[in-house]
Amino acid sequence: MPGSPTSPFPPGSVALVGAGPGDADLLTLRAIQRLQAAEVVLYDDLAGEDFMSFVNSEAELVAVGKRAGHPSPKQDEVSRLIVAYARAGKRVVRLKAGDPTIFARSDEELRALRDVGITVEIVPGITTATGAAAALGASLTKRGVARRVQLVTGHDVDGRLPGDLDIAALADPAATTCIYMGKATFPALVERLLAEGLDPSTPAAVVESLGSPEMRVVRGSVVEIARQLAAERPHGACMIIYGFALAQV
Ligand SMILES: C[S@@+](CC[C@H](N)C(=O)[O-])C[C@H]1O[C@@H](n2cnc3c(N)ncnc32)[C@H](O)[C@@H]1O
Repeated sequence: MPGSPTSPFPPGSVALVGAGPGDADLLTLRAIQRLQAAEVVLYDDLAGEDFMSFVNSEAELVAVGKRAGHPSPKQDEVSRLIVAYARAGKRVVRLKAGDPTIFARSDEELRALRDVGITVEIVPGITTATGAAAALGASLTKRGVARRVQLVTGHDVDGRLPGDLDIAALADPAATTCIYMGKATFPALVERLLAEGLDPSTPAAVVESLGSPEMRVVRGSVVEIARQLAAERPHGACMIIYGFALAQV
């Protein structure tokens, strides 16, 4: 339903679309509408490529994620490309894993587009944290146990554990914490959390390659999960979740 009155997608505009955690049936209806109407789709390295079945066969597909060990294009270059396609009058979809507003550098793309007066909309997607909770069969909040949820990046621009993390907040026993991009730094984080007083038996889980046939789930205490990640160094993208909301699931 391209061009439906409630959700216009005019030529020369851009939609930042969340692809969700990988399964095509977790795309939103609006995401599918945008993919069907797009003339150009710039897409990340997604868990699955099922979304391609919704893309118009005439559309140009541009991969801008990390592929087969090749470095991904620099963010400036991606922003430049999006602007160039929109200025050429195309309907452009920028398809991102999960939700475009969570650790997806959409702010930089929004700025680049708005600076030159290009219309841009955000189409939300299911972020990996909630997709992983569903895969675990767990609720991220739990009455009387987990009163808040925090979404945290586990690495800074150099790939290290960010130095300015609020460790006290991350050691809050009444929170559920979801760590993005944290598989390499989780062991170092757990050391700091234990020093801050986190109970070493706090339940945790890793969901690797959610939404793909290679999906793998590992459960244990934070200490066990940290040991496992240090020993195994999983290849796929990993969502790490810990907190007492995960007990008994
Ligand atoms: C750059 S962030 C993108 C987050 C995305 N915008 C979202 O809302 O889920 C990449 C991180 O998201 C998580 N992630 C993305 N896709 C995943 C998947 N299929 N399985 C597990 N974790 C995933 C991992 O923590 C990965 O390091």
